[in-house]
Amino acid sequence: MDALLKTYKRLPVELERGEGVYVFDSAGRRYLDLYAGHAVTSTGHCHPRVVRAIQDQAAKLIFYSNAAGLRLREQAASLLIRHAPRGLTQVLFANSGAEANENALKMARRHTGRTEVVAMAGGFHGRTAGAMSVTGIEKYRRPSAPLLPGVTFVPFGDLAAAEAAVSDRTAAVILEPIQSMAGVKTAPAEYFAGLRKLCDRSGALLIYDEVQTGIGRTGTMFFAGRDGVLPDLVTLAKGIASGVPLSAVLVSAPVAEKIGYGEFGTTFGAGPLAMAALKATLETIEDERLLENVTRTSLGLTERLARIPGVIEVRGLGFLLGLKVAADAAKVQEELFRRGVIVGTADEPGVLRLLPPLTLKPHDAEPFVDILGPAIEAVTAR
Ligand SMILES: Cc1ncc(COP(=O)(O)O)c(C=O)c1O
Repeated sequence: MDALLKTYKRLPVELERGEGVYVFDSAGRRYLDLYAGHAVTSTGHCHPRVVRAIQDQAAKLIFYSNAAGLRLREQAASLLIRHAPRGLTQVLFANSGAEANENALKMARRHTGRTEVVAMAGGFHGRTAGAMSVTGIEKYRRPSAPLLPGVTFVPFGDLAAAEAAVSDRTAAVILEPIQSMAGVKTAPAEYFAGLRKLCDRSGALLIYDEVQTGIGRTGTMFFAGRDGVLPDLVTLAKGIASGVPLSAVLVSAPVAEKIGYGEFGTTFGAGPLAMAALKATLETIEDERLLENVTRTSLGLTERLARIPGVIEVRGLGFLLGLKVAADAAKVQEELFRRGVIVGTADEPGVLRLLPPLTLKPHDAEPFVDILGPAIEAVTAR
């Protein structure tokens, strides 16, 4: 029996190493990685600057908790806040996306003195009890039911439904600004502005789960701030430290002001290795102009993908793309894998997800553009 408990279904491969946008198996075969281990390796696999930062830090101090000061921690936090949307002035570090969302929900309850939450059908926020309670995908919720009470789900993008659900008992409205797992779905700017107004009117906090959209994936550092809409709390994880486990909650000044010592924290949060990786990741994004790269590469890629026979629709923004294909997406994923390209699927059948490293260049993606049509055709011909 496998000593590892079943979690995710595994690709039929033993990976040995990674370099840039590629991973290599134990036989030396190269795969183009358009999935980045669930949107995590933002600067590509083993970016030399990130590797060096981790190695240097490991030789100095692998760990000390927040119980002691650490200059690197201050520097990494300041750098992150320097990039943060206006009004988000402090950061709490944790370890996973779910944990960041747990903390954001707890802050909203703490700040408002209320317990109810409005969340979105199709939203995914993690697998711990609180994060799962606001996740709007039934197949994940069912095994853990009953979950936390007081959560109302509304259809994503439906402002009237949100208006009917938000009241003076609502602590927070939580959403992924682009629902990734649900099939890469977003909403128009007016929707986000409308939610902001609803929250202002009712005194609820607006939480953006930017675990996937954050740290450059959509071509801007954050989705927050787009069209002038500023949430009260933003949660981050995945690509924030290029693969070293780290998550964060960006916190607005009024929320931060009420929080005292001892209320929030976690042993491993803001550990030195994660801080070294965060700082190197942000510096790499800046120095290599990766935001511009995401926007430019995505534009060309989406235009070409949309013209491929068998591709029905290209959704998303930057390097968070959903391809609706005219075939079983899981089978197309397998076929692409056989041909040396790793992509993801989504909960919506027929949707492939591309979440590549932010370093992907147009020429890197060429082999994928060339084989996608034939892969879809091979699956439909079976
Ligand atoms: C939008 C979003 N939020 C939260 C999470 C949970 O993150 P983690 O798996 O690090 O707990 C995920 C994970 O896929 C996610 O996509």
